[in-house]
Amino acid sequence: MLVKKHIVLHVIKFFKKESVEMNKILVTGATGFLGGAITAELIKKGGAERLLLLARGDTSDTALSRVKKNLIKFGVNDITLSELTSLNIIEGDLSKVESFIRDKRLDDVEKVINCAAIASFGNNPMIWRVNVEGTFQFASRMSRVKSLQRFIHVGTAMSCTPAPNTTVVEDISYTLRENHLVEYTWSKATIETMMQECLPELPLIIARPSIVVGHTQYGCIPSASIFWVFRMALKLGKFMCNLSDRVDVIPVDYCAQTIIKILYTEELEFPVYHISSGQESSVSFAEIDRAMAKAAGTTSISGTYQKVNYKQLSLEKTNFKKLFGDCNERIVLKAMSLYGQFSKMNVVFNNERIIKLGMPLSPKFTDYIDVCHRSVEDKSLAELMAVDFK
Ligand SMILES: NC(=O)c1ccc[n+]([C@@H]2O[C@H](COP(=O)([O-])OP(=O)(O)OC[C@H]3O[C@@H](n4cnc5c(N)ncnc54)[C@H](OP(=O)(O)O)[C@@H]3O)[C@@H](O)[C@H]2O)c1
Repeated sequence: MLVKKHIVLHVIKFFKKESVEMNKILVTGATGFLGGAITAELIKKGGAERLLLLARGDTSDTALSRVKKNLIKFGVNDITLSELTSLNIIEGDLSKVESFIRDKRLDDVEKVINCAAIASFGNNPMIWRVNVEGTFQFASRMSRVKSLQRFIHVGTAMSCTPAPNTTVVEDISYTLRENHLVEYTWSKATIETMMQECLPELPLIIARPSIVVGHTQYGCIPSASIFWVFRMALKLGKFMCNLSDRVDVIPVDYCAQTIIKILYTEELEFPVYHISSGQESSVSFAEIDRAMAKAAGTTSISGTYQKVNYKQLSLEKTNFKKLFGDCNERIVLKAMSLYGQFSKMNVVFNNERIIKLGMPLSPKFTDYIDVCHRSVEDKSLAELMAVDFK
């Protein structure tokens, strides 16, 4: 049995050596939440030899093992993982684009899915360097690749600074710094505009996910990003939104499948696509409360819930440790007030364009909230929130 597996791996490696020139799809961010989900979907379908992955590491071997470690969280098995080798890797950092930009393999790429970014609401000093300057240098390099047919840039639906209580249409948008709640969304808005205006040769498609939470099968094992916000608010019984406010959440596997749909659709009608739950699959905080209570075997807080402002929220600071376990109360307050401001926007992102491409509606958050709950039941809230403050 062991010998058989060895022969299979040997044959795979032999063909891999013969097919260096076959790397046609370049994915960035494969060590992350969304990039990991996309890479997992692509390699589960077969054709790992077509993939080039830009990832950080001291060497391409360490970058490869970081990618593989991440893909395991998306259920990729050993045999499939073994199809990825260092030939699939471009070891590189978007804050030092010069270090990988001359890699000849970039000249054969046909399609790019650019997922890498510092996706943090914190004050990471590298946000601008990576999300704007480095990403622009990288896109600029790719715009000169003759074989390039499509460059899918993963933006964020929030970068258009939507007006509260609206359904946001899919459009190119121009925003001002003062309207952004965090540097991250401002950086994402800026890079979209720069690529559209300064790189006319780039076959650019912008995919803007709304709020990506969990995986329908693996819950929060790949990442607990944002899930902790709901758990924290419900535990406190107070937050900055109304229970009737809606939130546009999608699972990471749906997001990945939609981006792959955009990747393989030959003719695309539009330059910008929301990847969102839209009117039909977005849910209210009241629905989230009921689903979370059912998953946790507790009771709904709808009878006692209070909508609070920042000042009222800050008065709760002394209760945080009692409620959430060991945590830095100042950081928790900052996190809750930041996410609280997004929560009270009550916006939904129109999803007509992806539906027109043939995607089904997104699963509702409340349909897989139990899977998310079970996957991180034993983790503390402080542990879970760290992922969003890198
Ligand atoms: N999650 C959401 O709710 C959401 C919603 C809308 C849009 N998006 C967008 O989706 C994309 C992926 O987000 P995510 O949630 O998957 O974030 P994530 O889990 O933090 O992953 C970010 C990825 O970017 C890579 N990266 C960061 N800095 C880099 C650098 N200097 N050079 C090369 N790679 C770098 C990371 O690599 P390392 O492992 O080396 O750090 C990681 O692979 C982002 O563009 C984000 O704006 C996310």
